[in-house]
Amino acid sequence: MTIKNITILGSGIMGHGIAQVSAMAGYKVFLRDIEQKFLDKAMEKIKWSLQKLSEKNKITANEVDTIYSSITPVVDLRAATSNTDLVIEAVPEDFKLKEKVYNELNGMVQDDVIFASNTSTLPITELSKLTTRPQNFIGVHFFNPPQLMKLVEVIPGTQTNPKVVQELTHYVQSLNKHPVICQKDVSGFIVNRIFIPLVHEALFSLDRDRVSMDVIDSAVKFKLDFPMGIFELADYTGLDVVYKASYEMNLRDKNVLLMHPKIKELYDNNQLGQKTGKGFYEYKDNNYERVNLTQEKSSQYDPLSILGVAANNAAWLIENKVCTLEDLNTALKLGMGLKTEIFELVKNLNTSKVINRLREIEMQQGSFYRPNKYLENIK
Ligand code: 3HC
Repeated sequence: MTIKNITILGSGIMGHGIAQVSAMAGYKVFLRDIEQKFLDKAMEKIKWSLQKLSEKNKITANEVDTIYSSITPVVDLRAATSNTDLVIEAVPEDFKLKEKVYNELNGMVQDDVIFASNTSTLPITELSKLTTRPQNFIGVHFFNPPQLMKLVEVIPGTQTNPKVVQELTHYVQSLNKHPVICQKDVSGFIVNRIFIPLVHEALFSLDRDRVSMDVIDSAVKFKLDFPMGIFELADYTGLDVVYKASYEMNLRDKNVLLMHPKIKELYDNNQLGQKTGKGFYEYKDNNYERVNLTQEKSSQYDPLSILGVAANNAAWLIENKVCTLEDLNTALKLGMGLKTEIFELVKNLNTSKVINRLREIEMQQGSFYRPNKYLENIK
């Protein structure tokens, strides 16, 4: 089957971005949300983004108009799916909500139409069972902002037809993005298995080490060479996304992260980061605003436990054959913008120091911090 028309369900940060990059690759897109006001906001963001890309000569002014007009915002689900080849679900990360959406879709869309979920953490096989087409169901996980991040994780469920994996891989490539296949349908897949626990670890570091958020973030940016600090990235991703991903991951696998209560507190107070003007930091602009992080502040902190927790989860992925070391490095480079490979970073910060710091914290906070044996071989 050739994919021409695509329906995106959910017009939030991920949904509107996926709609835009699909339209930029020449697909006709139906962007669906439950209220017109969400769609209006999404279309505004798409216009802003297209104009930014045009200012930077990535697309022409004419293309801005053509791309924009190939996206049809629509509230009616039947109209959004009546002439589609691929449905990408990007609704909030809540199993019950996704179940409701798939129940509605099942009777409405023919079984040969592929359903893909942009879930960030929910098991694909579990989701596929909510549909009438487990063999035509797959995970395609984009990264924020989809307009700039090159990675897409492709996650087959146990019943996904290999042809569907192939078709979705082609679709991802047609967007000029890089697919990495997640070989096992594990909680958090590849990148979120590393990113989400880091937000909690940054908070534990704040409690333990009594330094400020911007010092920790500066150290992450300048000593680990991440493009953003962890608190900054969490605010940018949205603390609703981080909270829901944490909750769902923790429900399925207690070893993947240690929950810090602050995430739920911020979520309950609707302090969701950049989108609400306040999260860990405060913001004036809801389009794109950066936190002032400096090299000078970074000299006050060694982010040993942050790197240790990331490296432990990275080692777990390799040990459990979720991905190869090469795919892990590609995923972290293209999905989180890491300039240096994760185990190189461990070496650079000094492997023994990282392992010893994890052991010290293990004595206080338990086995979650036990250094993975894989780390001992990093020399
Ligand atoms: N469309 C077009 N342009 C955009 C844009 C968008 N959506 N968003 C930002 N921009 C523009 C900015 O306005 C800015 O333009 P300017 O130069 O005119 O000011 C430019 O892009 C970025 O400039 P910066 O100097 O701030 O950029 P960086 O070199 O740091 O790159 C970045 C920006 C690519 C976002 C980089 O900081 C990065 O890689 N950050 C990490 C992002 C990340 O880790 N994402 C994954 C999160 S996890 C996830 O999404 C999974 C989910 O399931 C939770």
